[in-house]
Amino acid sequence: MPALVLLGAQWGDEGKGKATDLLGGSVDYVVRYQGGNNAGHTVVVGDQKYALHLLPSGILSPTCVPVIGNGVVVDPSVLLSELSGLNERGVDTSKLMISGNAHIITPYHVTVDKVTERFLGKRKIGTTGRGIGPTYADKINRVGIRVQDLYDESILTQKVEAALDVKNQMLTKLYNRRAIAIEQVVEELLGYAEKLAPYVADTVLVLNQALEEDKVVLFEGGQGTLLDIDHGTYPFVTSSNPTAGGACTGSGVGPTKITRVIGILKAYTTRVGAGPFPTELFDEDGAALRRIGGERGVTTGRDRRCGWFDAVIARYATRVNGLTDFFLTKLDVLTGWEQIPVCVAYEIDGKRVEELPYSQTDFHHAKPIYENLPGWSEDITKAKSFADLPKNAQDYVKALEEMSGAPISAIGVGPGRDETIEINSFL
Ligand code: GDP
Ligand code: IMO
Ligand code: MG
Repeated sequence: MPALVLLGAQWGDEGKGKATDLLGGSVDYVVRYQGGNNAGHTVVVGDQKYALHLLPSGILSPTCVPVIGNGVVVDPSVLLSELSGLNERGVDTSKLMISGNAHIITPYHVTVDKVTERFLGKRKIGTTGRGIGPTYADKINRVGIRVQDLYDESILTQKVEAALDVKNQMLTKLYNRRAIAIEQVVEELLGYAEKLAPYVADTVLVLNQALEEDKVVLFEGGQGTLLDIDHGTYPFVTSSNPTAGGACTGSGVGPTKITRVIGILKAYTTRVGAGPFPTELFDEDGAALRRIGGERGVTTGRDRRCGWFDAVIARYATRVNGLTDFFLTKLDVLTGWEQIPVCVAYEIDGKRVEELPYSQTDFHHAKPIYENLPGWSEDITKAKSFADLPKNAQDYVKALEEMSGAPISAIGVGPGRDETIEINSFL
């Protein structure tokens, strides 16, 4: 019953989509367990490029069943357009399963996300504006709408009424916006019911039965460890748990079933939106990482903030997720630097600190302490084994492994499915 969790070890965009897709051919189920269409996963298969937001990246593997778990927030209009976009390109999406307990992102959640950010002004989080935070807030406040509610008009109407009761007061009196009409929302949501019906399933039962039958299940995280609502750089985080524990609550599979937890780790660091980022570069090196790495958001088109590798963060990700392996991505992007600085510890108020401080104030004051590792200039995109890498690239990988606290079991040397060096098998 192999159950693998694959998640982001930094601030998202580590290459999770590519890593999931790579394993997709050998797994039976790929499950999204949190987040929603704030995710942007680019997968390159041959000469085809796919941008996925809500669907698990396993959707591109014909033998794999893609599952949207109970912990995900689903925008039905986005889901349906993502499905039809894939169908037009010849991808079969008929095996998709969606939990009836997943919460629905409605147009009022998107509105609230946008007005709240505007209201925050300088203190804004820089959200993706997709309604993620307000939908999770309603879930926790027990005024959320779930996928199963689409199939009972009376319950749906009562729930939309309850949700809009306070929101309309807030929108009209505080934010100076027009009130949202309950009937209009109910009508729109009911319009999705029939289209989604073939996919809605008891995914908890399906996944647990699959594991009992020795099927291979892969849990694909959205976002990353440092964007986790509990373990990330709060409040500059997303509103869910991308960390390993989220795979259990977001799917209904118990922790005793998880056999491996793989952290996807970029060979440098990026971040989108506001919040602290100790190794961020504002110079030519940062611009070069952005240019060579193509660091522009798949979801919002924003430039990603770029910086050197941060081993303090990698160690933290190993700890809070109980990582068994790392998948190091985008090593090819570092080709051409004579020296590559790596942050090995922080200096906080004159003291050397080896581990991520729990205090927000301390983290905001953290200055990176760098060690320079020798770079390489040879093209590594054709490397098929570790031995094919130039000596300095091998040493860079070994140094990162040593500092990060878990074995690096695969290395990405390009965006394509086959541009990967496998060191230890994941299955
Ligand atoms: P995700 O959100 O974690 O799935 O990552 P994104 O798809 O947002 O961003 C990662 C980007 O890097 C995508 O454009 C991938 O195609 C690309 N990518 C993934 N792995 C590699 C790699 O090893 N090398 C290079 N050059 N690009 C990669
Ligand atoms: P993938 O899955 C990078 C960031 C946003 C913002 C914060 C909160 O592609 O790695 P939200 O809309 O979630 O309330 O925004 O989280 N963020 C991401 N950054 N990659 C992502 O997803 C992200 N999803 C959300 O930029 O700072
Ligand atoms: Mg992304």
